[in-house]
Amino acid sequence: MRYLVTGVAGFIGSQVAEHLLPRATELIGVDCFTANYPRAAKEDNLRQLRSKPNFSLLEIDLGAADLAEIVSGVDVVLHQAGLPGVRPSWGRGFSEYVTHNVVATQRLLEAARNAGVRRFVYASSSSVYGNAASYPTSEEALPRPFSPYGVTKLAGEHLCGAYAANYGLSTVSLRYFTVYGPRQRPDMAFHRFVEAGCRGAQIKVYGSGEQVRDFTHVDDVVRANVLATEADLPPGKVLNIAGGSRANVNSVLNLLAGLVPSPLQVARVDHQAGDVEETWARCDEARRLLGWTPTVDLVDGLASQVAWHRTRLEPVLAGRTNGEHEPDRSVVP
Ligand code: NAD
Ligand code: UGA
Repeated sequence: MRYLVTGVAGFIGSQVAEHLLPRATELIGVDCFTANYPRAAKEDNLRQLRSKPNFSLLEIDLGAADLAEIVSGVDVVLHQAGLPGVRPSWGRGFSEYVTHNVVATQRLLEAARNAGVRRFVYASSSSVYGNAASYPTSEEALPRPFSPYGVTKLAGEHLCGAYAANYGLSTVSLRYFTVYGPRQRPDMAFHRFVEAGCRGAQIKVYGSGEQVRDFTHVDDVVRANVLATEADLPPGKVLNIAGGSRANVNSVLNLLAGLVPSPLQVARVDHQAGDVEETWARCDEARRLLGWTPTVDLVDGLASQVAWHRTRLEPVLAGRTNGEHEPDRSVVP
C-alpha cells in the first residue's frame, strides 16, 4: 500500500504517518513548514519517521507545486495539511487560510482523481458547526461556521463532496473536535496551560472559562484515520470524531492543578472572536461505519500530555519541586 500523508510534520499528521508506516510499502510525507509555529518543533515531530526506510519527505507547498507526479501510484491520501487555529483567522491573515485550506485541498483533490486514488481522507473540523442550534450535533446539523477558519474548513469539506459526487472519488471528511495529547500545537489551550503550569507562568483564560469542548485525544484521531483508510464508505461521507470527554476550560484547569508542580496562576481576559460556547458531537455514524469509539478519557489523556511536556521541559524544571500528584477525577464528568 502506498500512502500520501500531507501535513506530515504537524501535530496530527506526524502521528497518523507513524501509525500507518508499519503497513506501508511506501509512505510519502508532504509538508511546507508553515510559520504557524517554529520549524524546530515540526522537525522534532518528524524524528521517528525520518529513520524509516519506507518513509520519504517532500518539502512542497500543496498550493503551488505540481502534484500529478507526487500523487501518481498512491493508493490512499490522508490530507492533514492545513492552517489550523480559530482565533488568528480574522483580518489580513484570512487569505493564507484560503490558500492553505481551500486552494491546496482543491489542487490535491484534482490530482487524486486524475491518479485514481482509492481513498481520500480529509481532516475537517468541529469548527464547521459554529454555535449549534442543539446538542449533541450530528453530521446532518446545518453547518454555521463562527470563524473565518471554520468557513475554510467547510469549503474543503464541500470540495471533497463535489469531487465524490461528480467523479466518484472516495472521499471521507473526519470532523475532529479539539484534539490534544503529545505534540499538541503551541497555540492550543492545553499546550499553553501545561507549559505555564510547569513553569509557574501565567495562564490566560478567554472569557468566562465556561466554554465547553468535546476534547479528543490524538490517539483516537489517529485510529479514526487508520480505520477510514479501509472502511466500506459511500463517497463523500462526513463523520464526527469526538472524544466524549466534554469539559469546560475551568474544569480542565482544576484537573491540571493536580498534575503540575506549581500552583496555577490564572488571569481572566476577554472572550475571543470566533470562540464558540460549546462543542459536543454525536459519533454514532463513526461507530457504525468505522467501528470507532473514543478510548482515551480526559483524565488519562491530559496526564499523557503533561508527561510529554515534562520530558521537553526537563532542563527547565530541574531543581524545582518535583510534584507528582494523583489527578482529581471528580472535577470532570
Ligand atoms: P499543524 O499545524 O500541527 O499541522 C499542519 C501541517 O500542515 C503543518 O506542519 C504545516 O506546515 C502543513 N501545511 C499547511 N499548509 C500546507 C501546504 N499548503 N502544503 C504543505 N503543507 C502544509 O496542525 P494540526 O493541529 O496537526 O492540524 C492538522 C489538520 O487537522 C489541519 O487541517 C486542521 O485544520 C485539522 N484540525 C485540527 C484540529 C486540532 O484540534 N488540532 C481540530 C480539527 C481539525
Ligand atoms: C481547536 C483547534 O485549534 C482548531 O484548529 C480546530 O479546528 C478546532 O479545535 C476544532 O475542534 O475544530 P479550539 O477549540 O479553539 O480549536 O482549541 P484550543 O485552542 O485548545 O482552545 C480550547 C478553549 O480554550 C477555547 O475555548 C479557547 O478560547 C480557550 N483558550 C485557549 C484559553 O482560554 N486560553 C488560551 O490561551 C487558549
